[in-house]
Amino acid sequence: MAGLAVQIYNGGGVFRVVSTKPMPGTQWIRALTNVGCRVEVCTENKTILSVEDILALIGSRCDGVIGQLTEDWGETLFAALKKAGGHAYSNMAVGYNNVDVNAATRHGIAVGNTPGVLTETTAELAAALTLSAARRVVEADDFMRAGKYEGWLPSLFVGNLLKGQTVGIIGAGRIGSAYARMMIEGFKMNVIYYDLYQSTRLEKFVTAYGEFLKSQGETPVYWRRATSPEEVLKEADVVSLHPILDKTTYHLINKERLSLMKKDAVLVNASRGPVIDEAALVEHLKANPMFRVGLDVFEDEPFMKPGLGELPNAVVVPHIASASKWTREGMATLAALNVAGKLKGYPLWSNPNNIMPFLDEHSRPPAACPSIVNSKALGLLVSDGKAESKL
Ligand code: GLV
Repeated sequence: MAGLAVQIYNGGGVFRVVSTKPMPGTQWIRALTNVGCRVEVCTENKTILSVEDILALIGSRCDGVIGQLTEDWGETLFAALKKAGGHAYSNMAVGYNNVDVNAATRHGIAVGNTPGVLTETTAELAAALTLSAARRVVEADDFMRAGKYEGWLPSLFVGNLLKGQTVGIIGAGRIGSAYARMMIEGFKMNVIYYDLYQSTRLEKFVTAYGEFLKSQGETPVYWRRATSPEEVLKEADVVSLHPILDKTTYHLINKERLSLMKKDAVLVNASRGPVIDEAALVEHLKANPMFRVGLDVFEDEPFMKPGLGELPNAVVVPHIASASKWTREGMATLAALNVAGKLKGYPLWSNPNNIMPFLDEHSRPPAACPSIVNSKALGLLVSDGKAESKL
């Protein structure tokens, strides 16, 4: 196996499932071994496995694989998995822009992802980046550690107040809406959002919360649905990006659109790096020292575009938005249950907005696949909901 180190669980299992990385927790391993899988976890000390490495892990017989968002899951790997007798692949991620879903479908392979479990965790990191950028926390921390603090000064690290300002959301799905609520409830911000779909739940929430604030004698908050990303960029004091990455969102934030933003705005990205033209962003940050960004993702991950790392008005973290213990363990469990469910011939879970029953350590998970993105194309049955209604 090309010398790659693996750790094996339940060696006598009937299905051979490979995980390209060790994943947090142990519930995911039980989810597989409980349904008769032999689990082989690649423990090789190499951050990103190449296609060749993964081909070696798949070998000549493999029923399913759990992989990572850093891996290139295209025609080569799906053809090899099919040839090895495989039926199931799951990303340990909600995003799957690293996966050629059409190639998987052509080979009859189900592709799973892990929605729901990382909504709040990701939104919290976006909120952390917002605060760090708005209040210059990282710059101030560096200053302190460098021994530069000589005493309080009226203008030391002056930043932006969030209360009463407007937060702009581009992509108001699960994560975007959760982030919006955090900023509205926490900081009494107004919201303007752009999404192809109306977010009625978010609108209703803001209206009701505004009424509540009014009833307390406080200034209410308001929402508005924008008809273009430009409208959000022009009006918002903070803009957070939460779209999926596809052809329509590649370089959504470019030189022209950056120039529409307020000079002292805060821009946050915890979605995917290529949503921003990062070279244009570097130029914009250089030209506008009061403009600040909080970035969890980068266009050429793991690298940053030249100059970004030296700019004090950028807060940068290494793609950790979903990195809470609960979420990462939950992602591993959902990914394992996608693969286990497909190998057992279970239907697709019919309620993607409630994946909690799959995460309860103290009871058997439902006999369903939590989330298969090409289920329609593969003609997979959807659970009749009886199991769900009993929960
Ligand atoms: C993380 O970035 C994910 O898509 O799950």
